[in-house]
Order: sequence, then structure tokens, then C-alpha cells
Amino acid sequence: MEKRIKLLTLLLTAGMLLGLAPVTQAADVDKIAHECDECHGKDGNSDDPKVPNIAGYSAKYLEDALNDYKSGDRPGVKYKNDEGEESDMNEVAKKLSDDDIKAIAEHYSKKTFKSHAGEQKTDPKLVKRGEKLFKKKCKKCHADFGTDPEDDAGILGGQWMEYLRHQFDMFASGEREMPKKMKKKFKKIKKKDYEAIIHALGSK
Ligand code: HEC
Ligand code: HEC
Repeated sequence: MEKRIKLLTLLLTAGMLLGLAPVTQAADVDKIAHECDECHGKDGNSDDPKVPNIAGYSAKYLEDALNDYKSGDRPGVKYKNDEGEESDMNEVAKKLSDDDIKAIAEHYSKKTFKSHAGEQKTDPKLVKRGEKLFKKKCKKCHADFGTDPEDDAGILGGQWMEYLRHQFDMFASGEREMPKKMKKKFKKIKKKDYEAIIHALGSK
């Protein structure tokens, strides 16, 4: 009789250990993050100007962006990693479940965004003009030169200029959809002034 009870207790304990959900979940996030970091850099701070930092973005923005890539609403740009394997964000996001997306968004929202201001060349004249334009047309939704994650509109200040330049072009061509109210302001900016705004943002 006593032996039976001991066995039962043992089985119950083993079952409880196996059922420890948080342990398995945490391991999954680490595994996913490892894949993201291969392109986005350690803890989401990228060392390739084609790939944006994603550290410190709001969880909401990250979740929305990943869902847009997953559905195909936002087109990803083909990218080759160091091993020569080509992929893009649409392929990456399609492999993620809704729970994966929530967890990985939370993960990067807790990392710290490292500005690239010191690592890229900016022209002081363009910076000045860009700052003026940005304050007039963009700051309402992108506070402090787009460095406030609470706006849920990405992080623009200190981002890689090459990434920003490509996104400006995609917005202008309509390849990437932008929020309606942003479109109104964006349209009022002349193409030759994009570069001024990009320099202003790159210097923050
Ligand atoms: C093969 C390389 C690669 C991998 C792996 C990868 N990314 Fe990306 N990611 C990119 C590139 C390149 C861009 C920028 C161009 C674009 O929009 O596709 C990008 C853009 C993004 C953006 C948009 C950022 C913005 O400012 O709007 C988010 C969010 C993102 N990635 C999250 C992730 C997450 C989370 C993972 C892991 C699940 C991941 N990425 C894995 C290459 C990659
Ligand atoms: C009415 C609010 C609003 C205004 C005004 C606005 N934006 Fe945005 N912007 C957003 C939101 C929201 C997003 C998130 C993108 C999405 O939802 O697709 C965004 C995204 C962006 C992105 C992409 C960020 C990334 O990480 O890929 C850039 C670049 C950008 N805005 C630049 C500008 C510029 C330049 C102006 C001024 C001409 C401007 N925005 C004005 C709301 C706005």
C-alpha cells in the first residue's frame, strides 16, 4: 500500500515538472530571438545599415509589423545573411504563431535601442533643414524625432539611414502602405527633401 502511494506521488511530481509551462515558453522565445538576432544584431541592435534596429520599439508596433509581414500587407525586402542564405520578413513572419509574435514583440520591447548617430555621416546643413521640416510635418506622431516608442510608430531617430531611405522610397511608390494621415503630410514633402529628413533622423 505505502509503496503504491510513493509511486503515485512520484508520478504526480514528474507530471507537474513536465507541465511547467513558463519554462518551455521562455526557451522558445530564446530560440526565436536567436534567429532574429542573426539578421537584426545582438539584442536587436543591427550592425548592417540595410537592417533596422528593433530593440526598444513598443511591443504594439512590433506585433503589428510582424502581423503585416505575415499577411503580406507589408512587403519584406530580400536579404542575404553572412552564410549566403536569402530570406525576407514575409517568410520569417509566416513561421510564427500568434503567441510567438506576442512573445517576441515583448522580448525586443524590453531591450535598449542603440543609436547609430556616431556611425553614419550626416551633413549639418541637411540636418538643419530636415529638422525644420520634420518638426512641421511629422512630430505630431513621431515625438522627439521619432525616438519615443510610446508613439507606436517605430523608432526613427538614430536608425540606420540606408534602411530609412529604402522605406521612404517604398512609401512614396505605394509599395508600403502608410497610415492615411501620414500620407497627407508625406505627400507635401518634395522628393529632394527626403534626404534632409533622413539626415536629421540619422543624426539623433
Ligand atoms: C534574413 C534576415 C532577417 C531575419 C532572420 C529577421 N529579419 Fe526582421 N528584417 C530584416 C530586414 C532586411 C528588414 C528591413 C526590410 C524589410 O522591411 O523587409 C527587417 C525588418 C523588420 C521589422 C520592421 C522594423 C521597422 O522599423 O518597421 C521588424 C519589426 C522585424 N524585422 C522583426 C524581426 C523579428 C522579430 C525577427 C525574428 C522572428 C526577424 N525580424 C528576423 C531581416 C531579417
Ligand atoms: C498621423 C500620424 C503620423 C504622421 C503625421 C506621420 N507619421 Fe510616420 N508613421 C505613423 C505610424 C502610425 C507609423 C507606423 C507604420 C505603420 O503603421 O505602417 C509610421 C511610420 C513611419 C515610418 C516607418 C518606420 C519604420 O520603422 O519602418 C517612417 C520612416 C515615417 N513614419 C516617417 C514619417 C515622416 C517623415 C513624417 C512626416 C512627413 C511622418 N512619418 C508623419 C504615423 C504618422
